[in-house]
Amino acid sequence: MTLKLIKWTQKMKPELIKLCNDVDRSYLTNRMPYPYTEESADWWLDMVSEHDGKDGVFRAIVVDGKIVGNISVEQKADVYCKDGEIGYLLLTDYWSKGIMTEAVCQICNAAFSELDIIRITGLVYAPNIASQRVLEKNGFVREGLQRNAVFKDGKIYDLCLFGKWK
Ligand SMILES: CC(C)(COP(=O)(O)OP(=O)(O)OC[C@H]1O[C@@H](n2cnc3c(N)ncnc32)[C@H](O)[C@@H]1OP(=O)(O)O)[C@@H](O)C(=O)NCCC(=O)NCCS
Repeated sequence: MTLKLIKWTQKMKPELIKLCNDVDRSYLTNRMPYPYTEESADWWLDMVSEHDGKDGVFRAIVVDGKIVGNISVEQKADVYCKDGEIGYLLLTDYWSKGIMTEAVCQICNAAFSELDIIRITGLVYAPNIASQRVLEKNGFVREGLQRNAVFKDGKIYDLCLFGKWK
C-alpha cells in the first residue's frame, strides 16, 4: 500500500464531491454540506487555493493512486493565532489499516514547517475512540473534556480536547 498526501486542485473536484457524499459523518461537524454539490466543492476548492500555505494546509489522502480521504490543519485567528485545528476524514472501506495515523503524522510535520503555529488542537467526540487513538499515536495529549458540548443528529456528546506542541 502506498500513501501520499497531495495538494487539492480544481481537477480533483469530482473525487472531492464523491468523497464528501460517501464519508461517514456521524462524528463530524455539520460544517460540510450534505448533499455535497458541485457548488459546495467550488466554494471549498476556492477557499483552499486562497489559504493553503498561508494560514492552513489542506491535503487529499491518496492510497494506491485513489483519493480516499481529506486532512487539514487550519490556523486560528485573534489570540488563538499560534494554534491550528486538525480535521480529517476517511472512506469507511479504508478504516483500521493505519492510514490516518500516518496521514496525521505527515500533516502535522507540514503544518509545523509551513505555518507560524506552536500547537495543533484536535477536537473529538467522546464515542469516536478510533480518532482519539490516531491522535494519541501521534503524540497528542488529552488536555480536557467539555461535558455535553456537542449536539449531533439528536444526540449529546462530550468533546475531548487534544493538543500537540511544536
Ligand atoms: C477516525 C478515523 C479517522 C480513523 O482512521 P483510521 O485510518 O481507521 O485509523 P488508524 O487505522 O490509523 O488507527 C485507528 C486506531 O483506533 C483503533 N480503533 C478503531 N476502532 C476502535 C474502537 N471501536 N475501539 C477502540 N479502538 C478502536 C484501532 O485499533 C487503531 O489503534 P491501534 O493502532 O492502537 O490498534 C476514521 O475512522 C474516519 O475517517 N472516521 C470518519 C470521520 C471522523 O470521525 N473523523 C474524525 C473526526 S475528529
